[in-house]
Amino acid sequence: MTVPSVIDVSAVEKSFGDLAVLRGVDLDVERGSVLALLGSNGAGKTTLVNILSTLLRLDAGSARVAGFDVASQPGKVRESISLTGQFAAVDEVLTGRENLVLIARLRHVPDPGRVADDLLERFDLTDAATRRAGTYSGGMRRRLDIAMSLVADPPVILLDEPTTGLDPQSRAEVWRTVRALADGGTTVLLTTQYLDEAEQLADRIAILHEGRIIVNGTLVELAQLLPASTVEYVEKRPTLEEIFLAVVGDHGGGLS
Ligand SMILES: Nc1ncnc2c1ncn2[C@@H]1O[C@H](COP(=O)(O)OP(=O)(O)O)[C@@H](O)[C@H]1O
Ligand SMILES: [Mg+2]
Repeated sequence: MTVPSVIDVSAVEKSFGDLAVLRGVDLDVERGSVLALLGSNGAGKTTLVNILSTLLRLDAGSARVAGFDVASQPGKVRESISLTGQFAAVDEVLTGRENLVLIARLRHVPDPGRVADDLLERFDLTDAATRRAGTYSGGMRRRLDIAMSLVADPPVILLDEPTTGLDPQSRAEVWRTVRALADGGTTVLLTTQYLDEAEQLADRIAILHEGRIIVNGTLVELAQLLPASTVEYVEKRPTLEEIFLAVVGDHGGGLS
């Protein structure tokens, strides 16, 4: 029995001039799950997210999001996703509620006020609703940013480094939010450089390295990839950091 993939990436290639960033990426994400795409700085995570959100064209291969092809049905893909980047789209002069109402109006959503109030409630921002977003903490701001991206209730959410630059408490708040979204049936692909983020949040973890997905599995499956010699030295369960370094450092031996 197979669960249909909501995100389905097959043999995707992308170069910038002479720089081959994606060299045949295969990836799929099941409905209602969180996939964490891990990779070092410059690995191509944002490039892949931008291809999935139709901001960039792929050179070869194919990608489908919510059943729509990114190349031939970009409008349908855009209707199915929300994209939250590393740099929040929040207007600091407006209150949290005003930010949400503004987006709801721009998206022609019926009853913008009610949509805003529902999202404020869901993201635990009701008490701060009438405060200017400029006064929010990093975590509140990021939660507002994610709430804004959910105004049209998309089935797929792409989060590019959602917690970069946040303090630990704010990161934990964002993690709870993302987990709740997935538990509610939203499909989430997030990129991160933080191994603990992937460990805490993801149902599956994929590692992008030198243009390809070299490892893709649950944390338990990934732990089994550690070479036996390493495991002897690691008496506790290996951390994702240990796994990451092991596979990125030496991935010639059939680890994918
Ligand atoms: N528009 C662009 N033009 C040229 N090079 C780019 C462009 N976008 C990204 N790159 C390069 O592609 C590589 C991957 O970038 P990126 O996808 O942003 O990586 P990541 O998000 O994993 O840090 C980097 O070497 C980056 O400099
Ligand atoms: Mg990036």
